[in-house]
This record gives sequence, structure tokens and C-alpha cells, in this order.
Amino acid sequence: MKKIAVLTSGGDSPGMNAAVTEVSRFAAMAGMPLIGIKRGFNGLIGKYKPQDSFAELSMDTMLDIADQPGTYLRTARCEEFYLPEFQQKAFRFLKSLNVTGLVVIGGDGSFQGAKALSAMGMPCIGIPGTIDNDLEYSETSLGFDTAVNVCVNAVRAIRATSRSHDRPAVVQVMGRDCGDIAMSTAMSTGSEIVIVPEVSNWRIENVVKRLDSLIKRGNTRATIVVAEGAYKTMKPYDFASFLKPYTQVYEGEPMNARRLAHVLRYKTGTEVRYNIIGYTQRGHEPTAQDAAFAFESAHMAIELLKRGIGNEVIGMRHGRVFHMPLDKALNIKPRFKRQIYQLINSL
Ligand code: ADP
Ligand code: F6P
Repeated sequence: MKKIAVLTSGGDSPGMNAAVTEVSRFAAMAGMPLIGIKRGFNGLIGKYKPQDSFAELSMDTMLDIADQPGTYLRTARCEEFYLPEFQQKAFRFLKSLNVTGLVVIGGDGSFQGAKALSAMGMPCIGIPGTIDNDLEYSETSLGFDTAVNVCVNAVRAIRATSRSHDRPAVVQVMGRDCGDIAMSTAMSTGSEIVIVPEVSNWRIENVVKRLDSLIKRGNTRATIVVAEGAYKTMKPYDFASFLKPYTQVYEGEPMNARRLAHVLRYKTGTEVRYNIIGYTQRGHEPTAQDAAFAFESAHMAIELLKRGIGNEVIGMRHGRVFHMPLDKALNIKPRFKRQIYQLINSL
């Protein structure tokens, strides 16, 4: 009888609980016992007490939390897992539990961990679980649709107040190296400016120029949607030369939403406010789209493991759930949607 394990890893994302629930449903249907590994790869390397590292999972435990935000199994980043000695320790641990297959729900980093375990002979199936949507092989990942919907609702509300008060707004959304949440949010809300990490050396002077031109044309409620990872790709700029009133406040502080809003306010002479959407994007219950993707992904993952197939990832292509080799998927480089970026930032 095959025995499988499941874990969530990296940043939590809406739909992770739904995916674990459905994994437990389809594992039960296939007669395969299931172990839930806690706190990402940490649960495999003996970092915590056994009760904090793994537990048998039944469908009954999971059914109540399928639509809950967060991840019941907990998640974590596990620095040790970059090292082969800990990957081997994890492999031996899974073997000691008689586990014959592992479902890893996470992003590209987590998939690298799955790849290492697969290479040692542990069949692993990856289910994309990250709000960032930075896995190029798949059209979407668990949590992306939810995150965008959370941002869209927030931006619509912010734009109403921006309009009432003639105050442009900087709105910071998540996205470490990928501006998909920012761009989808901007497209869906009619936001006038988007700033993303894929554009290297973007210039704050250009943002000022564009906002200034919008204000001069009567748009005093423009929205600047910025992805959290975009500050690191900004062209360095000497703020001290014109930010005298703020230099004390900002000394040693890297660029952020508050600072960006202050620069825009100082340069355009208009009251620019800032808002950070933050973890409301990650800790939200999944949209129907994310929950349905979780259902289909889990089914496909269990079908593969039942047949002894590992080293594969599940994804969505042309609206259909599919699977492909893990290695191949990880080798597909993210492609920046430049045209969308340009369209949002034009007119
Ligand atoms: P995500 O899975 O959302 O991309 P991270 O990039 O933070 O999130 O990765 C999550 C975890 O996956 C890391 O903390 C680490 O335990 C594991 N991981 C990431 N990259 C590798 C790698 N190259 N080799 C082995 N494990 C990795
Ligand atoms: O990868 C998901 C993500 O939410 C990114 O969008 C964000 O930049 C990063 O994780 C933040 O991670 P944390 O707040 O968990 O350190």
C-alpha cells in the first residue's frame, strides 16, 4: 500500500488548505494513508519535536478547514534545506515513515526542494501555491486570483477616497520579483501608474513626471500601484538634495511606500497618501477559482502518485489543469508582460 505525505512551504497562499483537504480526500479514495508534514521542509529535518513536525491526516480533520485562510499544516522557509546534508536527512526521514510519495505545495523555491528529494528517489509532485504567480509554466498559481481580488477591492475603495479628497494614492501590493499582482490590480481598477520589479532602473523622476501630467490634466485621484519588490530595482536617486524636511526621518531607511508618497507629494505639490495592502492578500479565504484549482490539482497529484509517477508539477494551461516534468517547468524563465505594463503607464 502506498503511503504519501503533503507539506506547504514558502509564503502561505489562499487555497493551500483547500489543496491539502482535497489531497486528503483523493488519498482516502485511493486507500493511501496520508501524513501531514508541518512547517515546510522544517518538518522533515528534525528541527522541532515530532508533534510539531508531522501528523497523520484524515479527511475528517481537513474538511472543516478547506475554505479557511492560512495553512493548517503551517508553512516556513527552511534555510537548512539548501544544503544536501539536510535534503538527505529529509529523504531518510520520509523513508523511515514508509512514505512513497510527497506532495509539495509552494512556489519555485519549494519546487527546488522537491526536485532535490525527487533526485534522491522520493517521487514528488508540486502544486503551485504562491500569490506571486511567478511560475511561468502555469497560467496561475493557488492564491493569485484571491490576492488580486483583495487588491482590487482595496484599490476601488482607496480610489473613492482619493476622488473625494483630490489625493493621489500610492498603493503597495505584494510581489517579490514578479509584478503580476500589481499589473492585474492596476488593469482591473483603471489605475494610472504601475511600478514592478521586472523593470530595472526605473526612475522616480518619470513617476513624478507622469503623476504631474495627470494632475495637470485634472486627474487628482490617480493611483500608483507598486509591487513590494520594485524598490530594489529603482535607479538610485539622491533624495537628500530635495528632501531636506524628510532627510532626518528617512536617514538609513530604504525606499518604501511612505517615502515614495512623500517624494511625489513634495515634487507635485499635491497631497499624495500611501496604503499598504500587506498580508490581507495572503491570509484571505480562497476565491472560487483558487479553490477549484486546488481541487483539480490535488486530484491530479494523487492520480500520479497512485501510478508511482513523481518528479512532476501541476499547472494550468489554456484554462485546463495539466502536469509536466518538474525539471522542465523550473527551467522556463519568467516572461515579463511588457505590453500590459506599457499600456497601464500610457495616456
Ligand atoms: P517559494 O516556494 O514561495 O518560492 P521560497 O523561495 O522562500 O518560497 O522557498 C521556500 C523554501 O524552499 C526555502 O525556505 C527552502 O526551504 C526551500 N528551497 C528554496 N530554494 C531551494 C533550493 N535551491 N534547494 C533546496 N531547497 C530550496
Ligand atoms: O512570495 C510571496 C510573498 O508574499 C511575496 O509577494 C512577498 O514579497 C514575500 O512573500 C514576503 O514574504 P514574507 O513577508 O513572508 O517575508
